[in-house]
Amino acid sequence: MMSKMEQSLLLKQGPETENKGPNLTYVSDQFADKGFHFQTKVENIQQAGAIMKYLIDHLNPAKVNHLKPFLPELNQADIDQIPSCLFPDTINTDNISFHFERGLPLVAKETFESVYPFLGLYLPKDAPQTNTLTRLLDFKGIAKNLTQLPLSELKLKEYVNCFGDGDKLLSTGRLNCSARVLDAFLDLPQLIHMADHQKAQWFNFSPDKTLRDGIYEEVKFYKQFNLDIDQLAHYFKLSPGDLLIIDNYRMAHARVGKRNPRELTQILFSNSCMTSVQIDQFRKSFFELITL
Ligand SMILES: [Fe+2]
Repeated sequence: MMSKMEQSLLLKQGPETENKGPNLTYVSDQFADKGFHFQTKVENIQQAGAIMKYLIDHLNPAKVNHLKPFLPELNQADIDQIPSCLFPDTINTDNISFHFERGLPLVAKETFESVYPFLGLYLPKDAPQTNTLTRLLDFKGIAKNLTQLPLSELKLKEYVNCFGDGDKLLSTGRLNCSARVLDAFLDLPQLIHMADHQKAQWFNFSPDKTLRDGIYEEVKFYKQFNLDIDQLAHYFKLSPGDLLIIDNYRMAHARVGKRNPRELTQILFSNSCMTSVQIDQFRKSFFELITL
């Protein structure tokens, strides 16, 4: 018998396939095509997690080549309420720039790395409706037209090795702010100063950490690559009960507007025992993804 969750997922699907009944992998296939899935009427956090697991379990690895190294043995990891009171800057700012949650793992720095390829943003049913927008920016093919730049996977690796997130002496091998993926290909990178910045500081602060208009600065950065991110982005105003499931290693997400402390529930699926070979494999397939 079909569960309540499967029934609700079916609402998002197309017609039944001939003689085979409803095609329950349709939602996962759509997710693989678009890089996200938007689900309404989700009752609670447990159901949100179950829907994510269902979607992930039915993904066809051949359709998400960049996620292949991570798919086996994915577990629901952290559930956080955001913005966290531990980071008041993220509560006070009305602009969080595009980013990959917990950073793209592009160079292994530990024996075993944790990865977080799936992100769920859930607005609980009892949360107030706000006008805050969640934005998604698709990195699939984003660099394919950058013929004037020396694009290479090696250049990306070198940038992350030297200027990945972390303090000045120790790169974590990750890039959290997604603009820094493109910065890696510039002869004179412009965003190295963001390596040790907090989320609320990216683009909102100049290199000397004086305040400036972050949204404008971010748009200006992408314009150098002929990318109009205002036009390219998908916009979502989450209503109570909405769940946005994101391919965290393809779609960068951002926020416009303020959120109350702990307003949104963030669900991450992780794999915590990735080797350097698997991280290298991911970097290569991510480079292919953005230059397709
Ligand atoms: Fe985030």
